[in-house]
Amino acid sequence: MEVIILPDKAKAALLVARIIARALRAKPDLVLGLATGRTMEPVYGLLVEMHQQAGLDFSRCATFNLDEYIGIPADHPGSYRRYMDAFLFDRVNLSQARTHLPDGIASDLSAECHRYEALIAQAGGIDLQLLGIGDDGHIGFNEPLSSLRSRTREKALTPATREQNAPQFGGDPAQVPGRALTMGVGTILDSRRCLLLVTGRSKAAILAQAVEGPITAMVPASALHLHPRCQVVADEEAASALRGIDQYRWLFAHEPEWADFQDLA
Ligand code: F6R
Repeated sequence: MEVIILPDKAKAALLVARIIARALRAKPDLVLGLATGRTMEPVYGLLVEMHQQAGLDFSRCATFNLDEYIGIPADHPGSYRRYMDAFLFDRVNLSQARTHLPDGIASDLSAECHRYEALIAQAGGIDLQLLGIGDDGHIGFNEPLSSLRSRTREKALTPATREQNAPQFGGDPAQVPGRALTMGVGTILDSRRCLLLVTGRSKAAILAQAVEGPITAMVPASALHLHPRCQVVADEEAASALRGIDQYRWLFAHEPEWADFQDLA
């Protein structure tokens, strides 16, 4: 795992957008794993800008989102399909047929989970998986105690997660669906590269547990230590509880992979 610390949320999002853009230019048929949530909004805004101003081409790319709520239709204002359409899909040259989210209103949810895993496999696996972290340490909707080998499946959401996501449901946690379909921790770990973006002081304590604590199902994001190529991009606020900050900064300044990104430091 590598930890990159940048001065603020805007620069952290810019690094992530530039990494995605570079991956897409190197492999136009990139299979991109996507996340939703407030942390990702500036990343998608930057990708739209790169598409509009620099011709970043999404036409051959395929996308797979981490998760979707159960029981609300795609056109519900709180659905992740609506979120993705609004922030990215409708604003770049990505045909809907190449965008995938689990179907939270499928009549057979277990069959839907198997279908989703099969679609990812058919696409050749995920090249680059974008991730955020929940207040309780979740990635996707893999809540604490999720099996570290889990695959796409149905999960109950914790009160902390429903509280965190209440703003998309009129501010009332009780309106947030109680269950979701989510890629499993194992599904995420199968991707070829993971990029975890974490911003804001409210994530500092959980990020420190995920990065510097033990690998534990109580903090599902800590499982990212089992991934051979996971990079964590944090702003100063989110990084403020990390003990190894000096070492992480030194590595960012000296590793050749990051030479082209020093303007963001
Ligand atoms: C959503 C997802 C979640 C979020 C996490 C952080 O698709 O995968 O794990 O990334 O809950 O959400 P925000 O960015 O809203 O704090």
